[in-house]
Amino acid sequence: MVEPIRMSSEEERMEYLEIARNNPFLLHSENVIIDLLTDSGTSAMSAKQWAGVMEGDESYAGSRSWLKMEAEIREQTGCEYILPTHQGRAGERILYGHLGGAGTIFISNTHFDTTRANIEFSGSSAIDIPIAEGKEPSLEYPFKGNMDTEKLEELITHHMPQNIGAVILTVTNNSGGGQPVSMANAKAVGEICKKHDVLFIMDSCRIAENAYFIKHREKEFENHTYKDIAKEMYRLTDGAVMSLKKDGLVNMGGFIALKDPELAEACKNLLIITEGFATYGGLSGRDMEAIAQGLKEVFRPDYLRYRIKSTGFLGDNLHKMGVPIMRPTGGHAVYIDAKAFYSHLPVDQYPGQALVLDLYKKGGIRAVEIGSVMFGTYDANGKLIPSPMELVRLAMPRRVYTQSHVEYILEVFQELIREKDNAKGVRIVKEPKFLRHFTAHFEVMG
Ligand code: F0G
Repeated sequence: MVEPIRMSSEEERMEYLEIARNNPFLLHSENVIIDLLTDSGTSAMSAKQWAGVMEGDESYAGSRSWLKMEAEIREQTGCEYILPTHQGRAGERILYGHLGGAGTIFISNTHFDTTRANIEFSGSSAIDIPIAEGKEPSLEYPFKGNMDTEKLEELITHHMPQNIGAVILTVTNNSGGGQPVSMANAKAVGEICKKHDVLFIMDSCRIAENAYFIKHREKEFENHTYKDIAKEMYRLTDGAVMSLKKDGLVNMGGFIALKDPELAEACKNLLIITEGFATYGGLSGRDMEAIAQGLKEVFRPDYLRYRIKSTGFLGDNLHKMGVPIMRPTGGHAVYIDAKAFYSHLPVDQYPGQALVLDLYKKGGIRAVEIGSVMFGTYDANGKLIPSPMELVRLAMPRRVYTQSHVEYILEVFQELIREKDNAKGVRIVKEPKFLRHFTAHFEVMG
């Protein structure tokens, strides 16, 4: 698929930003030159996937397309019970809403924003325990997405196993910089959960990208196929939630996969109330055809090599230019350490959001802040409790941009480097209670 890109001037973009209240989520996509807002649902589909779309079986119950999707997910996850959902957060709401509620807690390497929001919305709390290495952007470490297993053991003992809704391992760890989780870590987490009889769920949005890193960084797996690595990881868990908008290589879709029949039955009942019948869950038959095919393609060595190398190309070149990024480069995105790049801006002037605005103004590049706008909270006096890191994510859509698009991004950064000491902070002028980054309004400080 080929999409035209409409070029715009810096003056025009200043105007678009004003209308969008300095929030990139409120920009119109036709006013964006290179869209790195997300890798979610932005993949280009293959000819085979489009061919599948033509064959979609739109039956309400038991459609052929569903059976194909179910078989592929069952084979990969090793889970007996597969529930389709229209995207990841629908599965999160169903599963975590059911397991959560006041008095329960969830523990993760890092909860993604929608995961945390669904958990907190149920009245439950979400605790992040990434390893210490994962919190240091410039540190080179192969598996910065790992969970701190000592803390996990402590937390389970402290809060008591019966109060733990689930332990969630997010692979790769999106909010922690798109960093991979090792098989050894997944195994250790699984063993602790088993010992305490706590449910172990994987958020497997980017499991194929994670498998790439395991094969090339964890010696024991160098001769395994990517798919077998993913299967092995699923085997360690009690189930998974996946947004197929990432490693499903589709524009829409998700699933819940479970091993326990009672839990699956409870989730199925909730699914039917809000998402649709259990053999489509909010998806059309043609979506399910594309998913069944995308889940196969994503594990192909040529695809995965292209994918990880092209993200690495952007990351390595920014690094060479002296832009502080989360090292080493993760799978789906490059994360810029905005606190270090705009070191003159204090965290309550949101350096990440400031960089997002400058990237758009300078080059029409849309990125997203993953820092105190997304995760900051306030203390009793209304003072900001900042996020541990102030990152800006440049997420790469799958199979969309070429090396020359990336070279354009690098040129824009050259200009930002020259002007960085003059960058201005931002303040929030309007915000909702949950997921504020999507709809908040900002003002650039004078
Ligand atoms: N879990 C992770 C790790 C995610 O990255 C996302 C989405 C979700 C769950 C929710 O899935 O969007 O299909 O409802 N991440 C996107 C992103 C939005 O930009 O990183 P969803």
